[in-house]
Amino acid sequence: MRAIRLHARGGPEQLVYEEAPLPAPAAGEALLRVHAAGITPTELTWSETYQAPDGHERLPTIPGHDVSGVVEALGPGVSEVAPDDAVYGLVAFPRDGSAAEYVAVRAADLAPRPRSLDHVHAAAVPLSALTAWQALFIHAGLEAGQRILIHGAAGGVGAFAAQLARWRGARVDATASARHHEFLRELGVETVIDYRTTRFEEVIRDVDVVLDTIGGDTMERSWRVLRRGGTLVSVAAPPPPEPARDAGARGIFFIVEPSRAQLVEIARLIDAGQIRPVLDAVLPLSRAREAFERGLAGHVRGKIVLRVDDPGSLS
Ligand SMILES: NC(=O)c1ccc[n+]([C@@H]2O[C@H](COP(=O)([O-])OP(=O)(O)OC[C@H]3O[C@@H](n4cnc5c(N)ncnc54)[C@H](OP(=O)(O)O)[C@@H]3O)[C@@H](O)[C@H]2O)c1
Repeated sequence: MRAIRLHARGGPEQLVYEEAPLPAPAAGEALLRVHAAGITPTELTWSETYQAPDGHERLPTIPGHDVSGVVEALGPGVSEVAPDDAVYGLVAFPRDGSAAEYVAVRAADLAPRPRSLDHVHAAAVPLSALTAWQALFIHAGLEAGQRILIHGAAGGVGAFAAQLARWRGARVDATASARHHEFLRELGVETVIDYRTTRFEEVIRDVDVVLDTIGGDTMERSWRVLRRGGTLVSVAAPPPPEPARDAGARGIFFIVEPSRAQLVEIARLIDAGQIRPVLDAVLPLSRAREAFERGLAGHVRGKIVLRVDDPGSLS
């Protein structure tokens, strides 16, 4: 099969478009014919990208954790999906990903593809939507009528978080550069702050939840906008305990987990028109290096997706 692989740790310069062995589905796994793969710009820096589940080095490695495709074959003991099912899912981190013509995925991590989406749009959903879902509803316990501040609201995670928070009935404020403000207002964000011209802590106060997709100085200044008893949930870095204690708030960091049940619920919301994926760019598999470079250059709006059913020829 054709695949994007890295033979050494590094950045987009290490990505090679080449022939790779076809994966074999193990017990509990499905082999998918990949139609589209979503990328996460930062994934080339994650240790899991180069590690097996037991922590041993895993090279060469295939990136891409979002997949939309069709079930081609099953390993033993699979009951969740059947051959020819159109599915989408989050490929677990310490294993080869979806930037390839085929990928083996734990069947329990797959769900039926949203009926209203094609493969390219479906591949923009799993990792970002699951991260947003788990941040808001599992970790922060966001409820109707509460206020949330979302940092990086135009990004892959942020755009789903803004929509899910609105669906839940929360009031949403957000930070983003000016080019995204109109887009975020269309998603239902009330106050959008240009982080490059305005210090958000001078505008926002007493929110119940902060979702931090940025970290660093953005996280440090976020304690000031939380009400006492509020929650800062970060997907960028673990919050240190001292400022949380001083602010009388909870600080949480987590790593997203695959969930078939949550993907089913997310598909239901998409098919009902309540939330939608946002595509920053679609490129053929052969141009994965350009896709990662684009993502790492910043200012992404939504997700970057690789089209794999028309992957481009090997040079
Ligand atoms: N823990 C987990 O399980 C998990 C899961 C998914 C992602 N992540 C991490 O979460 C982070 C975000 O991921 P993503 O896929 O959403 O990234 P992304 O798609 O690259 O989006 C980042 C967004 O943040 C905006 N931004 C940059 N600097 C900002 C600042 N100082 N304040 C406010 N907005 C700013 C960018 O555009 P503008 O600058 O134009 O506004 C962009 O829209 C990454 O570090 C990723 O590794 C973690």
